[in-house]
Amino acid sequence: MRKMTLRSVKEADVAGKRVLVRVDFNVDVVNGKVVDDFRIRAALPTLELLHKGEAKKIVLLSHLGRPQGRDPQFDLVPVEKHLRELTTVPFELHENLRFDVREEKNDPEFARQLAELGDLYVNDAFADSHREHTSIVGLAALLPSYAGLNLESEVEHLLQALSPSHPALAIIGGAKFETKEPLLQKLLSTYNKVLLGGVLGNDLLKARGLPVGTSLVAGVIAPTSLAGNERLLSPVDLIVVGEGKGGRTSQTGDVRASEKIVDIGPQTAEAWSKEIAGAQFVLWNGPMGVYEAGHTSGTDALATAITNSACRAVIGGGDTIAAIMKHTFDPEKVFLSTGGGAMLQFLIDGTLPGIEILKK
Ligand code: 3PG
Repeated sequence: MRKMTLRSVKEADVAGKRVLVRVDFNVDVVNGKVVDDFRIRAALPTLELLHKGEAKKIVLLSHLGRPQGRDPQFDLVPVEKHLRELTTVPFELHENLRFDVREEKNDPEFARQLAELGDLYVNDAFADSHREHTSIVGLAALLPSYAGLNLESEVEHLLQALSPSHPALAIIGGAKFETKEPLLQKLLSTYNKVLLGGVLGNDLLKARGLPVGTSLVAGVIAPTSLAGNERLLSPVDLIVVGEGKGGRTSQTGDVRASEKIVDIGPQTAEAWSKEIAGAQFVLWNGPMGVYEAGHTSGTDALATAITNSACRAVIGGGDTIAAIMKHTFDPEKVFLSTGGGAMLQFLIDGTLPGIEILKK
C-alpha cells in the first residue's frame, strides 16, 4: 500500500498558540443560509483537537465562490453563523480570502500578512490543495505547518484508491471529458473496469459511433485508443427526453435526433449494480444523470448498490456528494471525499501542491 508521511496536527504542540487553519467552507449558500454543510462538518474534528490541545486562538481561513473583488454575495457570515450552531469551540473566521485578489496569486506580501495572524498553520482544506494559492502554499512555507485531520484522512483514502484491491471498479460521470481524459487513461491501468455515465457516457457513445441526439457532449471526440478499450463501459440503455415530451427508456443506439440523454437506463443500472456487488473496491466521481433536474434514478441505484455491498468505496465530487447525501453509508467502508477538482488531480498526480509542502 502507498504511504505518504505528512506533519500531522496530532504532533503539533498548540498549547497557548494562535493557530491558523485553512478550511474549505466553499459551500452552497441560498438566501443567506448554508444548504449543504458537508464540508463544514468535515473541519470539526480538527477544531475540537486544537481546542482540546489548548490553542490560545483558532483563526479559520476560507474562500467562498469566485468573487470578483469584495462582493457581499460571497460573504462568509452565513457560514460563520452555521458553524457556531455546530460547535462550541471558540474561533474567529477571517473574511473570504478571495476578497483580496492576491489570494489566487500566491502573493508573498499577502502570505506575510496572513502569517502575522498566527504562530502555527494547519491545512485542513483538501478540496483546495490543488490550488497554488497564498493560503495553501505561500502561507504554509512561512509558519510551522501541519496537515489537519480531514486532509490526512483524504490522503489516506485516496492513496487506497490509487492502489485498490481487485476486482476494482471506477465509476466516472459528470462532464469535461477534456480534463478527465488523463484520469481515465490512468484508471484503466489500475482498475479492472471503468464505467462512464453522465456527459462522459455520452462522449463515449458518440466516439463509438452511436447516436446521442441533442445530448450534451464535449467539444472533442474521445480518441480511439480510449473508446476502443473494452474495459471502458458505456451505458446499454438510457433515459432520454424529447422536445416537450416526458422521458422514455431507449436502448443505446435508438436515441432519436431530437432526444437528449438525461440518465443511464434501468438495464444499465442493474448491470452496473452487479459489477459493484462483485467488486472489492469502488471509486466513484460524477453523477450518472442530470440529477439537478430530477433525473436521479441511475445515481440512486448505484448508491444503493454500494450500501448493500461489502466493497470499500471512495466517493467524491461536489455534485456527486450532493446527489447521494440522502443515502446512508457505513463510514467504516465508504469514504466521502470533500474534494472536487482536488480529488481528480490527486488521482492523476498522486499528490497536490498544498500537500507536498506538508511532507516530512
Ligand atoms: C472546490 O469547490 O472544488 C474548491 O472549493 C475549490 O474551489 P475553486 O475551484 O473555485 O478553486
